[in-house]
Amino acid sequence: IKRITTETLRKMKFDKEKITMLTAYDFTTAKMVDAGGVDAILVGDSASNVMAGHETTLPITLDQMIYHAQCVVRGVEKALVVVDLPFGSYQSDSHKALESAVRIMKESGAHAIKLEGGVEVEKSIKKIVNAGIPVMGHLGLTPQSIYQFGTYKVRAKDDEEAEKLLSDAKLLEELGCFALVLEKIPAHLAKKVSESITIPTIGIGAGADCDGQVLVYHDMVGMNQGFSPKFLRRYLDLYTEITGAVSQYVKDVKDQNFPNEKESY
Ligand code: KIV
Ligand code: NA
Repeated sequence: IKRITTETLRKMKFDKEKITMLTAYDFTTAKMVDAGGVDAILVGDSASNVMAGHETTLPITLDQMIYHAQCVVRGVEKALVVVDLPFGSYQSDSHKALESAVRIMKESGAHAIKLEGGVEVEKSIKKIVNAGIPVMGHLGLTPQSIYQFGTYKVRAKDDEEAEKLLSDAKLLEELGCFALVLEKIPAHLAKKVSESITIPTIGIGAGADCDGQVLVYHDMVGMNQGFSPKFLRRYLDLYTEITGAVSQYVKDVKDQNFPNEKESY
């Protein structure tokens, strides 16, 4: 199996082949997602919501992200594994940012890190890239800033925010980021950004003209019933499937239909 690298993703943009990414936080899921053929797997800090049940991505720690990354790396043979730097591990100063990124790379064996923001985190990105660690950017609706935004609505609808986003995207390219996530922004803006830079854009709620797409695995397989933004396509209804299987098992045991003779020693 030929491994996907950051160089592979750059080439895919050049060849106009769309890039696919999904999240995973554990070994078993990572194995299935990799076998399904995605190009990249994101160990997202969405683990804070999806795995730990927090309301935001803010509480997850660097140690917890490293644990998730270790589990994912053990399950992946082909995809590029990218790990989110969690809130508080890179914003305050660039030395701390580099230390956090180095810990992820050393302790998990992942291939790249992702962090949120543009010019505000310029120094952190510079330091990490200079250490030889591939960095993926993330602009638009950046969930670690939710208390500043106040809502999860579409970002950069006005000209001022759109212009800042475009200049941040160009800066991220200049700083040496290998790709960048665009989350929940107007499709026409994502198209403009994608055409203005040579590194691939990976969209979530950012329209069809991004160079690739990313979704949260638990959302796309329908495990999260309460979450249905317009951008989400559900490929399965696993919530219904799994609760159905569980209630069938409960019934079988209660009715003394499980285990049967063939299932006994
Ligand atoms: O943490 C995450 O899952 C993400 C994606 C939604 C891009 O950052
Ligand atoms: Na994230």
